[in-house]
Amino acid sequence: MKIGSIEITGRAALAPMAGVTDAAYRRLCADFGAAYTVTEMVSAKAIQYNYQKTAQLADTSGDRHPVFLQLFGSDPFDFGLAARKAAELGPDGIDINMGCPVPKVAGNGAGSALMKDPPKCAAIVAAVKRNTDLPVTVKIRAGWDEEHRNAVEVARACEEAGAAAICVHGRTRNQMYMGSADWDMIGEVKRAVSVPVIGNGDVVDAQSACKLLDHTGCDMVMVGRGALGNPWIFRQINAYLQDSCTILPGPGVAERILVIRRHMDELCRLKGEHRAMREARKHVGWYLHGLRGAAAFRRRAGELSTLEDLDLLLRDVYMAAREEQEEDG
Ligand SMILES: Cc1cc2nc3c(=O)[nH]c(=O)nc-3n(C[C@H](O)[C@H](O)[C@H](O)COP(=O)(O)O)c2cc1C
Repeated sequence: MKIGSIEITGRAALAPMAGVTDAAYRRLCADFGAAYTVTEMVSAKAIQYNYQKTAQLADTSGDRHPVFLQLFGSDPFDFGLAARKAAELGPDGIDINMGCPVPKVAGNGAGSALMKDPPKCAAIVAAVKRNTDLPVTVKIRAGWDEEHRNAVEVARACEEAGAAAICVHGRTRNQMYMGSADWDMIGEVKRAVSVPVIGNGDVVDAQSACKLLDHTGCDMVMVGRGALGNPWIFRQINAYLQDSCTILPGPGVAERILVIRRHMDELCRLKGEHRAMREARKHVGWYLHGLRGAAAFRRRAGELSTLEDLDLLLRDVYMAAREEQEEDG
């Protein structure tokens, strides 16, 4: 499959998640088979200035490809300037955030608030297109609320303005992340446009990825929360789709520990140990989900300050798993 001129191998992409999908996690998920990845959302205004924090969010120089840089904002002119700047940073494409529900973003007319104004969505896509040759994708929701479920109208407007693919998260802005995603709406968008459609919402394993593809006819799925502490999900989805429904087991504790350590090493390189270990607390908590003694280990994860703390924790996690194996004979 292609998005614009970019060849995409695989049918499951990593969703953009602010505070989660930094360069370290994107690389890890790409290595486990994510078809492409997307940066955390980057302000179309801030990227034009060389703020250090924004530059780090937008840096794709160490990424596996393809990687899309996601911009959020409300003004087509800003998007045009931002696209020029973004293109210099080495992404394969630019994604436009039309789905973020948080008041700080939507309250300023950005993210999901753009869906209230389909001509503006089109103007933003057109402005980005005018300023870069990179393919432009949009990430939309089902609509603003139950009374305004206009994903089809917005998708058509964006396609006409030159969007190379449309990703649809099947919830309205009012649903935030609650309730279930409306996969019928994703199917409606798929039937309404001719560019690739990426379905998003509630993919938590290989089987749900396959169900979403079957239900909607969409070209790919995008995985968000199902990938938290679970980069293996991409390997599992790929095996299931490519190899007649093979269900790969989850990772054993040894692999899990190796991956946690690699992830945290990369995070330290990227952000320095002090900041990385604070961010590690949530990641490690997610990784330990479902393991023996997880509740107590997760409490310890919440207090991580150094790589040494992490190593001590991982040693105890490993020992607990071995004890369990021995008990099971
Ligand atoms: C912690 C978190 C951060 C998110 N940040 C972004 C973001 O920066 N840009 C964006 O388009 N969507 C963002 N999303 C939405 C996800 O990309 C995705 O659309 C949503 O979680 C639904 O997919 P899922 O059911 O697979 O989680 C975020 C979601 C979460 C949970």
